[in-house]
Amino acid sequence: MRIDIITVLPELLEGPFSHSILKRAADKGLASVHLHQLREYGMGKHNQVDDYQYGGGAGMVIRPEPLVACIEDLQSQRTYDAVLYMTPDGKRFDQRDANQLSLQGNLLIICGHYKGIDQRVRDHWVTHEYSIGDYVLSGGELAAAVITDAVIRLIPGVLNDETSALTDSFQDDLLAPPVYTRPEEFRGHKVPEILTSGNTKAIEIWRDEQSLQRTKERRPDLLAGHQ
Ligand code: 6GU
Repeated sequence: MRIDIITVLPELLEGPFSHSILKRAADKGLASVHLHQLREYGMGKHNQVDDYQYGGGAGMVIRPEPLVACIEDLQSQRTYDAVLYMTPDGKRFDQRDANQLSLQGNLLIICGHYKGIDQRVRDHWVTHEYSIGDYVLSGGELAAAVITDAVIRLIPGVLNDETSALTDSFQDDLLAPPVYTRPEEFRGHKVPEILTSGNTKAIEIWRDEQSLQRTKERRPDLLAGHQ
């Protein structure tokens, strides 16, 4: 998989992508992330990318010319399966979206800034619009990092057995069960006996019960769509 990200703040994204699982995916040749500075497509001697909004109102809007120039430059080099725009008024991104996107080959992600991008680009170039939750971020970069992480870790071979995505919360619309490690007793608090019993079948049943109980208590909305 290849993910291209258009942003006025590539520096903000360099950190997340040069560490952790994303770094490992890149090293294994399974996924690569490429950052593109929108300002390189900016207008005039100041490489301007934004302007006042028609109709008045506070806040600048990304102009269509530099953004579409950048999009089309990238599209001339490869075909994108999806062009994503990060915006608080997009669809709330969930694990189902991550699963679907992880099956694609080339993704192009546009990070908004200021008051966002000109609506004409959203109407005619963007194919998917995502929000990562009901709160406002200063720009789409952190949201793009979140989505990129969620998608890349699902690509076969990126995770090993230890970090397998199969047992993640949400992967089956249930929260993950509690986990424990050594020591068996810490400050008087013991690990549930079943986990040290060696009875793998009983442990599996216990974990399923815990998952269901947790989901009922904390996220009944996840169960609602299921039954
Ligand atoms: Cl995708 N962008 C911004 N600016 N704020 C957000 C968001 C995206 N998702 C949640 N809040």
